[in-house]
Amino acid sequence: MDYDKAIEIAKDIYWVGVNDKEAFFRTNAYLIKGENESVLIDPGSLAQFETIKRKVLSIVPKEQVKYVVASHQDPDVCSAIVPFTQDGFKFKTIAHSRVSALLLFYERNLDLYNIDENNFTLNYDNGKKLDFIFTPYFHSPGAFATYEPENKVLFSSDIFGAFQKDWKIYADDKYVEPMKSFNELYAPSKEIVNYSIKKFREKDVDLIAPQHGSVIKKELIETMYHALETMNAGMFLENAEINVMKMEVMNEIPVDVLSDILKIIRERATVVMGKETVENIIKETIPEDNILSYSLLAKLVNKIKKENPLAIAVMKLPLVNYVMDNTSRLKGKVPSLVKEIIYM
Ligand SMILES: [Fe+2]
Ligand SMILES: [Fe+2]
Repeated sequence: MDYDKAIEIAKDIYWVGVNDKEAFFRTNAYLIKGENESVLIDPGSLAQFETIKRKVLSIVPKEQVKYVVASHQDPDVCSAIVPFTQDGFKFKTIAHSRVSALLLFYERNLDLYNIDENNFTLNYDNGKKLDFIFTPYFHSPGAFATYEPENKVLFSSDIFGAFQKDWKIYADDKYVEPMKSFNELYAPSKEIVNYSIKKFREKDVDLIAPQHGSVIKKELIETMYHALETMNAGMFLENAEINVMKMEVMNEIPVDVLSDILKIIRERATVVMGKETVENIIKETIPEDNILSYSLLAKLVNKIKKENPLAIAVMKLPLVNYVMDNTSRLKGKVPSLVKEIIYM
């Protein structure tokens, strides 16, 4: 597949994102092509404007981009609104009023269309329709998703996004781990996650098109819903950080527990750093004939941290979960700070 070009993911719906190999996570933008009126979903960042514009213009002329959806105000989602406006594109910006208030800090002269003042719907292009699904606090107070009923596509913005070193436009069954590693860091609480997923479940969805990560086809949608519904979220990350790798009981931990911990570290580091790099670091830190010990694991984590701090961020939560689930194997000596970790 040629990722340098726009790619049609459903009838008249195009991926116009950027396959930035240097970035930890890819950013997706999408274009819904109408007869006369087209909609650009999450137009992307200032830094990637030229690529996105080129792809958009390969599908429709400038004058046809009548609407731009800004699912929330993050720079990766919609800072490209500024150069799009300066470049003479004339469009209505679709947002929630809580997002609109912030978009004005990008550009004062936006022609705003607030979904909460318009019944969470847009009618356009003489008979086409979009529904907007409010997903408050996941991860922004005004965040929302866009549902296109004709092709049953759910543009979910950051929800269902992923950290991936090795990116492909379509998700496969290995997508759960990279997706969880992203969403765990963004989701403020289980209740908030489940509120949004419940709303998605009320729609008939054939394709999920997130703003990061890969497009999810129908056969994997249930798996991904379930993964987010059962995911632990809302951890007080700050507290958690200190604890897992500083547990005073670590030197008393059975070797099989240590190898489970190594497995988690390996899996999550691979998501953001790629298999080759991670295996090399493991090989040079933990020679095969060496017995696994806590100090070797600590050394490994330090090396990974130096190479890629994000890898440490995404392994925190599964490590904490593992420790919490295995308190009995840890001889009941889970340090008090770990016990204080609360999921909301
Ligand atoms: Fe975001
Ligand atoms: Fe994002």
